[in-house]
Amino acid sequence: MKTYVQVGLGGRHRMFRQALTGRHFEWARLKAVCDSNPGRLAIAKSQAEEEGGVPVAAYEAADFERMLADIKPDCVIVTTPDWTHDDYIVRALEAGCDVLTEKPLTIDAARLQRIIDTQRKTGGVVTVTFNYRFTPPRTQLKELLEAGTIGEVTGITFDWNLDRRHGADYFRRWHREKKKSGGLEVHKSTHHFDLVNWWLGSVPETVYATGGRRFYKPDTAERMGLSGRAPRCRDCRVNNCGFRLDMNEIENLKRLYLDCEEHDGYFRDRCVFAADIDIEDTYRVQAQYRNGAVLNYTLVAFAAWEGYAITFYGTEGTLTHSYVENSTINGANLAVRRAEQVKTTLSRFGEELQAIEVWKGKGEHGGGDPLMLDMLFDPASAAEDRWRRLADFRAGGWSILTGIAANRSLIEKAPVTVADLVNGLEVPPDLQPAAGGKP
Ligand SMILES: NC(=O)c1ccc[n+]([C@@H]2O[C@H](COP(=O)([O-])OP(=O)(O)OC[C@H]3O[C@@H](n4cnc5c(N)ncnc54)[C@H](O)[C@@H]3O)[C@@H](O)[C@H]2O)c1
Repeated sequence: MKTYVQVGLGGRHRMFRQALTGRHFEWARLKAVCDSNPGRLAIAKSQAEEEGGVPVAAYEAADFERMLADIKPDCVIVTTPDWTHDDYIVRALEAGCDVLTEKPLTIDAARLQRIIDTQRKTGGVVTVTFNYRFTPPRTQLKELLEAGTIGEVTGITFDWNLDRRHGADYFRRWHREKKKSGGLEVHKSTHHFDLVNWWLGSVPETVYATGGRRFYKPDTAERMGLSGRAPRCRDCRVNNCGFRLDMNEIENLKRLYLDCEEHDGYFRDRCVFAADIDIEDTYRVQAQYRNGAVLNYTLVAFAAWEGYAITFYGTEGTLTHSYVENSTINGANLAVRRAEQVKTTLSRFGEELQAIEVWKGKGEHGGGDPLMLDMLFDPASAAEDRWRRLADFRAGGWSILTGIAANRSLIEKAPVTVADLVNGLEVPPDLQPAAGGKP
């Protein structure tokens, strides 16, 4: 049996906790939890003990090293906010533990270098939980591409829409500060750039980005007639903005955030139109890959629908895929449930257009989360993975390098060479072609 501790007990904590106290209890055991907020720490401890029926120790963030010394876990699960990941990853590796971290691996090149260097020194295993790879229709694309269905992939267009419910949520709290999240280019697009790297079996060479904050800004609110806004929804008398988050109405948000504010002043409901937001809500990234493929990617965080559309151009044909997703608010335990629409179409030169029967999944993130948890925690599932879905810090690193380069490109208004950003980041097998060849 492997032993785990988890640091960071907010919205994303629950998925890992429940995996360890429930389905994977026999072979993966949660021994302790850790957080900087005593309120969320107490909640997580009592929920874990209630679910698992065994004691779970609780440590404040200042006692992280003491926790590792007391518990001697095999692995530390990191689900803190993005700008703190590197610190916990490095401290866990130095203590001789493996690490399982949420995306993004980290937020900038200096922090990434620190992780690369420490991993090399300690030899610990750092897994990045890229749940999107496990969503069955996306795994199916990997299968189709790797089988050579459209020949060699030479280009991808990829448009990702966050709607005004899910997208707005990144503008309420720490994600809205670039120094805490790396912007959506890193925080959110790490998923998408990882998918591209993995689908292509290659890594980015040059990146050019354009974009800005076009919607979540004071001018938009004024144009909508929303004068007299307060810094947070709780104190705001403007009731008709359409973006109000009332934590009193959503039990889990109230318990996790509103009731715990007194300890750290972390407000989950800040105004999405505030002047001090410094992340982009609209951007386009063009990238050239080592294998010669080109990418044209757009993200908009205030779209009318949630989901994405993608086209792969190959030497033997074209593969298109679109996914209208459910819109969620992280930590709220509720999603706007509508029928998801997933469509994949294959057109090969000289043949009729073909609708592909799409692989289906069940559970969060289109069925990706439960499959990933099995692979992470169940030794039997981990043995066989022909799509190479489990990712380590190297894939985590390559996925954020596109976003880090995009951030630099936005400032310099010029293309950025990815190899100039960090040293010694290898290309792992999951980002290489299955049958060998140039990554
Ligand atoms: N893969 C996915 O689909 C997915 C979905 C949601 C979130 N995430 C990731 O999970 C991570 C957590 O996101 P969240 O929405 O749960 O955030 P959150 O703000 O809800 O929770 C973060 C928790 O970390 C604690 N914390 C903050 N600073 C700390 C520190 N220095 N030491 C210890 N604890 C600290 C906070 O008190 C809070 O309890 C992020 O990195 C995010 O990108 C991934």
